[in-house]
Amino acid sequence: MEKVQIIFILISSSMLISNSQSTSHTSEKTAKFRVYIHQTLTGPNKTVYEVARSNITLTSPTSFGQVLVLDQLILATPDPSSEMLGRAQGVAIYSSLQELAITVNINLVFTTGEYNGSTICIVGRNPLSKSNNRETPIVGGSGVFRWARGYVISNVYSFDPESKYTVLEYNIYVVYSEQQS
Ligand SMILES: *[C@@H]1O[C@H](CO)[C@@H](O)[C@H](O)[C@H]1NC(C)=O
Ligand SMILES: *[C@@H]1O[C@H](CO)[C@@H](O)[C@H](O)[C@H]1NC(C)=O
Ligand SMILES: *[C@@H]1O[C@H](CO)[C@@H](O)[C@H](O)[C@H]1NC(C)=O
Repeated sequence: MEKVQIIFILISSSMLISNSQSTSHTSEKTAKFRVYIHQTLTGPNKTVYEVARSNITLTSPTSFGQVLVLDQLILATPDPSSEMLGRAQGVAIYSSLQELAITVNINLVFTTGEYNGSTICIVGRNPLSKSNNRETPIVGGSGVFRWARGYVISNVYSFDPESKYTVLEYNIYVVYSEQQS
């Protein structure tokens, strides 16, 4: 028990040292912006595919064990013909036996503008049972967004029950380090 605590203290103090070294080389930037994720759940242009499920998924009220892979459009507005900013690619897993919630690893891959070629990595829990303002962590990124951290607040903007076309609003709050390249 004591040994474990000592190791933890050593790790934390070395992290503090490296933190103070890095702040002298980089400056932090903050970005807050909103994008719209457009997803199609059926038809030839589906953006979400089931790749695995548990043997209780079909009878589970929370779809427990269902694994989905997705590649969705990131657009500037809720209008499907608005400017395309990139794609949201990753995995979502229904991982709660008690309520509707997914564990995700989703990469926002930007393909235009100042973030072209950069990614934001969203990893963690998305509490789908909450009716709005669902929070999921941002744990990293690439390109402009190296060292990123922050969070996404998401909402269902619209859902068409007939076509299953869904528009999600992603409010992104991200802190990242300015590059030295
Ligand atoms: C699927 O996408 C193609 C290419 O963008 C488009 O021409 C077609 O109309 C779409 N089909 C549906 C059902 O939305
Ligand atoms: C699911 O699989 C487990 C272990 O393989 C088995 O014990 C259980 O009965 C199965 N449940 C159902 C609903 O098929
Ligand atoms: C984004 O970057 C790629 C690769 O560098 C480039 O080919 C493309 O033209 C850029 N797109 C825009 C809209 O700037």
